[in-house]
Amino acid sequence: MANEINPSRVTIKVLEQMKSKGEKISMLTAYDYSFAKIIDEAGIDIILVGDSASNVMAGHETTLPITLDQMIYHASSVIRAVKRALVVVDLPFGTYQSDSHEALKSAIRIMKESGAHAVKLEGGHLAKESIERIIQAGIPVMGHLGLTPQSIYKFGTYTVRAEEEKEAETLISDSEMLEEIGCFSIVLEKIPNKLAKKVTASLKVPIIGIGAGSHVDGQVLVSHDMLGMNKDFSPRFLRRYLDLDSLVGNAVRKYSKDIKDGDFPNKGEQY
Ligand code: KIV
Repeated sequence: MANEINPSRVTIKVLEQMKSKGEKISMLTAYDYSFAKIIDEAGIDIILVGDSASNVMAGHETTLPITLDQMIYHASSVIRAVKRALVVVDLPFGTYQSDSHEALKSAIRIMKESGAHAVKLEGGHLAKESIERIIQAGIPVMGHLGLTPQSIYKFGTYTVRAEEEKEAETLISDSEMLEEIGCFSIVLEKIPNKLAKKVTASLKVPIIGIGAGSHVDGQVLVSHDMLGMNKDFSPRFLRRYLDLDSLVGNAVRKYSKDIKDGDFPNKGEQY
């Protein structure tokens, strides 16, 4: 893009400018130092330490089991690698739903113990009081509406959300409320393109989509999915940029064969 904003450090102000100039925002998850370093050096604008770590790092079926201590461990590993991107960390399930004081305590722990730049939490009106309290304490909050994986047992399925008018209206009023109380950005997950377009056009804050079409201000994917580390997950919205499953598998098979054949280490690889 011609007049691309290329800051040495991505801040909330920079994201606002990107939206007003129509420059798309790139966002990707990371959970550890080595991947975060590669992703940051490749110029991604926002790195999300997502609670999807529960799935892709720990092998759980849902995002529910991951703990605050585990999120802080992942986030502090990421933070040590990042020089440019804004780092946002998910508040995990069970650390903000019971009351707003607990929510603030959890957000403070993330900011203090990991050095992250912002937190993300799922939900609309039910999360309002918690989000307000966190923002009042000076912690930037990214909202998350549409498919909210922490409520998977309420939905019962990972299918597209807000296709019906009533749910779409709730999503619109929730997104307006999140902007009003001061969220700096909102993730919209797995909702119809038309609805995401409407929300994006009517709000000033950057809207980041995952399975929300092309009319949003930016896109986010789970890094393990876009790198092809997870063969069993193929939703329509996912574009795979690499087949890491095959690449790593082939490398490991070759390494194992070389050991068994007595080919590794060779003369030049020993002292
Ligand atoms: O946890 C996560 O990775 C997320 C993204 C899917 C937006 O919340």
